[in-house]
Amino acid sequence: PTTAIIVVAAGSGTRLGAGAPKALVDLDGRTVLRHALDGVFAAAPMQVIVVAPAGHEQTVADELTEANRDRGWRSAVVTGGETRQQSVAAGLEALGEGIETVLVHDAARALTPATQIDAVAAAVTPDAGAIPALAVVDTLKRVDGDAVVEAVDRAVLAAAQTPQGFPRAVLEAAYARATAAGEEHTDDAALFAAAGGFVRRIPGSERAFKITTPADLERARMLLHPPTA
Ligand code: CTP
Ligand code: MG
Repeated sequence: PTTAIIVVAAGSGTRLGAGAPKALVDLDGRTVLRHALDGVFAAAPMQVIVVAPAGHEQTVADELTEANRDRGWRSAVVTGGETRQQSVAAGLEALGEGIETVLVHDAARALTPATQIDAVAAAVTPDAGAIPALAVVDTLKRVDGDAVVEAVDRAVLAAAQTPQGFPRAVLEAAYARATAAGEEHTDDAALFAAAGGFVRRIPGSERAFKITTPADLERARMLLHPPTA
């Protein structure tokens, strides 16, 4: 395959506060990372690079081996950095030869459907990236302290998800540029756009939400095992 996916799992999960790296938190006997990897390995074949929290490389490698058991895809584990951007950069260093499209995916989006991964990969072109994004449902306000300044038109806004896909060479150049400039971006699409790249939006999925807080963890557990009445 000419596609690779970098699954970033090196965060500490401060907002979740589970006392362990978020990717290694148990959902239902399987970890957040294992669920994310099961989604990846249900997609079309690609190289899989998992970016692990420092000190947890072996645990992550074992999860990857297990998820890859019936697939045998080319895969690797690398150690992450202080920021998400540094973790992605570490993943980029591990890309194999012949890779033309790179997807970057949050392990924390544990329940992301494989169809979303395939759709992003299919939407990447040699000069444009693609990201899934959901319409915003809340009424949004611009605020200043406790003052409500104005409503913001949500029709022009969308909530970005992952995986985010890019042509490899252009993404690598954008990362080199951001690193040299000392820039820190909120996601890969922003970093790619800052280098002049065009990013296309495709529909997102409710199931691709990011597990960030304890309530999100509860939601993921409910989706996996709905309580019976
Ligand atoms: N991530 C990473 N390396 C970092 C920071 C984040 O690989 N230095 C990954 C996380 O593991 C996660 C994804 O980036 O899969 C999205 O980040 P976030 O949800 O913010 O996770 P954490 O940084 O772990 O959580 P928090 O910000 O609450 O500490
Ligand atoms: Mg974070």
